[in-house]
Amino acid sequence: MLNLDHISKSFGGHRVIDDLSLTFDLGVHGLLAPNGAGKTTLMQMIATLIHPDSGSITWQGQDILAMDEDYRGLLGYLPQKFGFYPDYSATEFLIYIAALQGIGRRQAKPLVADLLEMVGLGDRAGQRMKTFSGGMIQRVGLAQTMINDPDLIVLDEPTAGLDPRERVRFRSLVHSLAQDRIIILSTHIVSDLETIADRVIMLKDGRVRCNLSPGRISGRLEGKIFLVPTGYRLEEGQALLEEEHEGGETSLRIYSPWPPDQGQVVTPNLEDAFLVVYGDERS
Ligand SMILES: Nc1ncnc2c1ncn2[C@@H]1O[C@H](COP(=O)(O)OP(=O)(O)OP(=O)(O)O)[C@@H](O)[C@H]1O
Ligand SMILES: [Mg+2]
Repeated sequence: MLNLDHISKSFGGHRVIDDLSLTFDLGVHGLLAPNGAGKTTLMQMIATLIHPDSGSITWQGQDILAMDEDYRGLLGYLPQKFGFYPDYSATEFLIYIAALQGIGRRQAKPLVADLLEMVGLGDRAGQRMKTFSGGMIQRVGLAQTMINDPDLIVLDEPTAGLDPRERVRFRSLVHSLAQDRIIILSTHIVSDLETIADRVIMLKDGRVRCNLSPGRISGRLEGKIFLVPTGYRLEEGQALLEEEHEGGETSLRIYSPWPPDQGQVVTPNLEDAFLVVYGDERS
C-alpha cells in the first residue's frame, strides 16, 4: 500500500499540490485532470524524482525516500515524455534498460523476450523503434516498466497520441497487469478510465476533488443530467456540458440539480462528471 500523507509542492510560489492525502491499494487508479492540474508533479513525487516540500510518502509504512533503492526496485515508472533510442530495436532497448537496473544480458534476454510477447510485440522484437507507431512505442514503454516485476507501476499519460484502437489495446494490457499490483495512470481522456479504473481520482486546485469508482462517480449524478432543446435558457445552478447531435437533431446535454421544465433525463457517465467538476475552467 502506498500512502501520501499531507503532501504539498510549490514551484516559484505557485502551489501545485496542496496538502494532499491519498491511499493506493491493489488495482488501477486513474488520475483524471486537465492540463496543468499537477498530475506529472504528483507522479514524479511518487517516483522520487522530485520531493514534496512537506508531508510524506510511505510504502507499507516506510518512507519511500529512506527506502531508496529498495523502493526503486519495486517501482516501474513510465514518464510522460518517454525517451528511447530510435535506432535500437525493441529488444536492444529493453536489454539496455535492464542493464541500467543491474540485470545482465544473459538474464535479460529471455525476460525481454517474454515482456515483448506480453505486450504483443514478439514478432517485432528485432525491428528498430523508429519504425514503430505511437501505440507500439508506448507498449515498449510499458514493457520497460515491467522489467523488475514491480509492485507499483506509475504511468504518466501513457495513451496520449494513440489512436482509439491503440488506446483500447493499451488499456486492456494495463488491466491485465493490475491483478496483483498497484497501477497509477494519469490521463485527461475520460474513456481511458471508464472500463479499467477501480478508482478515479480527480485533482483540482492541488487537492483531491473526488476519489471513487467510475460507477459511483456517475451514480452521484443520477437524475441530474438532461437533454434539452437547443433554445433552452440555463438557470442559475445549471450547467451546459455539451452539444449532442443525433439523427440530424441537436440538443444540449446539461447538468441540473432539478428536473428542467422541458427535455428528458439521461443516464450519467464519467464524462459528465469530468465536465461538472472542471466545467468552470473551460474558456
Ligand atoms: N519544474 C517546474 N518548474 C516550474 N513549474 C513547474 C514545474 N513542473 C511543473 N510546474 C508547473 O506546475 C503545474 C502543474 O504541472 P504538471 O506538469 O504537474 O501538470 P499536469 O497535470 O501533468 O499537466 P499535463 O496534463 O499538461 O501533463 C503547471 O502550472 C506547471 O507549469
Ligand atoms: Mg503531465
